[in-house]
Parts: sequence; structure tokens; C-alpha cells
Amino acid sequence: MKVEEIFQVYKENIMPTYNKVPLIFVKGKGSRLWDIHGKLYLDFFPGWGVGSLGHCHPKVMQGVRDQISKLIFVPNNYYHPFQAKLAKELIYLSFPGKVFFANSGAEANEAAIKLARKFGASTKLSANGEQSRTIGVSTKLSANGEQSRTIGKGRYEIITFQNAFHGRTLAALAATGQEKYQSGFEPMPEGFIQVKFNDLAAVKQAVTDKTVAVMLELIQGEGGVNVADKDFVLALRKLCDEKNLLLIIDEVQTGIGRTAKMFGYQHYGITPDIMTLAKALGGGLPIGVMIAKKELGDILTPGMHASTFGGGPVICRAALGVFKAMQQEKILKNCKNMGEYLLEKLNLLKNAYPLIQEIRGMGLMLGVELSIAGKQIVQKCIQQGLLINCTHDKVLRLMPALNVTKKEIDQAIGIFRSVLANRQ
Ligand SMILES: Cc1ncc(COP(=O)(O)O)c(C=O)c1O
Repeated sequence: MKVEEIFQVYKENIMPTYNKVPLIFVKGKGSRLWDIHGKLYLDFFPGWGVGSLGHCHPKVMQGVRDQISKLIFVPNNYYHPFQAKLAKELIYLSFPGKVFFANSGAEANEAAIKLARKFGASTKLSANGEQSRTIGVSTKLSANGEQSRTIGKGRYEIITFQNAFHGRTLAALAATGQEKYQSGFEPMPEGFIQVKFNDLAAVKQAVTDKTVAVMLELIQGEGGVNVADKDFVLALRKLCDEKNLLLIIDEVQTGIGRTAKMFGYQHYGITPDIMTLAKALGGGLPIGVMIAKKELGDILTPGMHASTFGGGPVICRAALGVFKAMQQEKILKNCKNMGEYLLEKLNLLKNAYPLIQEIRGMGLMLGVELSIAGKQIVQKCIQQGLLINCTHDKVLRLMPALNVTKKEIDQAIGIFRSVLANRQ
């Protein structure tokens, strides 16, 4: 297909659900992408967080190629070794519990919401830490329906945060809580309450006898790269323990090394009750995962939840390739070092260009808040061969591959500097 024809087909045959940049990419390797004209781009926002190892990492490709030559699909009513291997790896790297496989971040969050509601259907809010220790038992008892009938509908409300983003399916959208995404799609599923980010008093005030969980991103990516305060997260964990609430951490964007630890929660000295993952875990292929702590692992039983493609053998090989690369290539260490290096370079730019208001983030998830709208800056960077993103109107988002090099950072900073310099 010729270039004009491709654009035409999009116009006529594909729903216009995305703001699109008129670039057609045909090849990628690491942090580099080539368009259909052969022009090279440095990708500092690979796949909205998907490309943590850059494009087409050889260890991901190797596993995928091998699996495709043997068996592409196994339905979830059978077993296959690589789903088992990936589940074991995920639990080894996170916390004791059980895994549910889906295909996207939104689906992983839907699974978490369903699990929380099922848990809430048979447990009560507790006034002290005492009752939460018996959760596992009461939840198990309720699996036969007996106890849930005596408690009734139970707890179902989930507290989420202003400027959160949890996905586009209806419950995930209700959890997201942002009017701009919800408008026109009402009524939203009930039971989601948004409170101010980093505000413990607001959370406490929102807890009712219907509350079952709190759902949180440790760094709000879409919401403007807002980092959760450590004190807030520690206090939230304590509150959830005391009240018998589940703490659901959405690590769809922060997980798999993005913040220089395998999972964002590891910076905070807490363990979630439920964690969701997607994006980078698949190394470029679609995956979504919900991990629930041990006591919650048997609440969803046959027939309660499912996904036809979830955790198929090809995607599991891709994800295992991601973990293999992360271990063998010391990706977390590189993320930490390169994150510090990029931050240092960005701070130098901040000193030179007052339109940069603030730089925030962790590891290689950095936001550069401007005093002006960032759209034009992004466009000019793209013209000069640097792909970055702008969120929340004024926040430039840099999330390069975790194996990015100093040389690539220098190149990107050079382009960014020239765009800033020519604007002023
Ligand atoms: C924190 C977070 N949760 C959930 C999602 C939804 O993921 P997906 O687009 O894979 O459904 C996103 C997507 O950007 C995200 O950033």
C-alpha cells in the first residue's frame, strides 16, 4: 500500500478513536524506530509504556518465534507449561498469591474490581485490625454461598483518586473517574468514589460500611506523572489493614522495572493485596495480569471470571523473555543509572529554560511540567526525530526503554534543548 492509500483507509475504515500523528512505522530495534520513508526516530515513549526493553528485543523475539513454530493457542480449560512458568515467576518476583491472566490493563483492573466485590460480598468492614485477620476464613466459608446470603449484597464501593487512569472498559472507566473520559457513556457502574490524591483524610472520610477496597496508581501516569507520597501510602496500607479493605495497586504503567524496581510498591515498603500489570510485561504483545495475595487466591472459582486468550502460550513466552532479559542484562540497574542521568540533564534544561516548571517521577518514568501547553513542543521534537508524549496538557512524559544508553539520552536531550531554544 502506498502512503496516501494507508491514510485514506484509516480515514474511511478505522474508527477515529485516537489522536494520530501522521507517521507510519515499519521497523523497530531498541530505542530506534524507522518510518515508511526510512527516516529514523529516537523513541522516548515506546508504546505508552509497553516498550520497556525497546522494540523487538531479541530475547522476546526468540521465545515468540520458538512458540509460534510449535503451538499458538491453548484454551484455558487445559494446561500448558509456559503459563505455569510465568505464573511462578510473577509470584516469585512479587508476593505469595495467585495470578489471573487477561489481555490488557483495563481487563486486569476489571478482574481486580470483580475479585474485590466478590470478597466484599461476604466480609464486613472492621473497626479494628482484629477481624481482618480472619478474612481468609470467612471468605472461604462464603464460597458456597451460605454466608453471603446472610450478609446480603455486602461491600462493593471502591475508593479511587482524582486524575487516576485505570482503563476504558466501563468499570475501569468508573474507577478512572475523570469526566472527560466518562462523558456521554453514562450511567457508569455504581460504587466508585474519587477522592483527592495523597490525601489520607479524604480517604478516611470516604470509607463507609459499603467500602471494600482502595485502588491506587503509585505514579499517576496519564494523570500528569504525580507521585504518591511515601507517608500517604504507608498510612493507606495501615488504614486498609485496620478496616479490612483491600489495597489494589495498579502497576500497569509503573510495573516491570519502570521505576527502577521490579514493581513500584517496592519503593514504599508495603505489599498490595491485589496488583495489576500489563503493558511492559508482554514485551510488545498484549497481556494483562491480576495478582492477588494468598488469602484471596481462591475466591474466584470456575465460571466466575474468564478470558479466552488470557495467558496464551505465545504471550507467556514473550513475558518470560522480558524477565530473562531483565535479569541477564541488569535492566533495573540500568534504569536506575539512566534515570538519574536523564533527571540530571533535564534539571540542567530547567535551569536554562524557565518554562520548565517542575520535573518529577521515578526511575525512567519522568514528567516535565511546563508553564505552557506541551503539544507544540512534542510536535517539534517529533519533526526533529524524537518521540515523546504530553499528558494533562502541560506535562511532557518521557518513558524511554529501560535499556536506553547515555548516548541516546544525550541525543534526545540535544533535540529537546534545540526545540526549547528555538521556541524562546
Ligand atoms: C495505570 C493504567 N492502568 C490501566 C491502563 C489501561 O491499560 P490498557 O490500555 O492496556 O487497557 C493504563 C493505560 O494507559 C494505565 O496507564
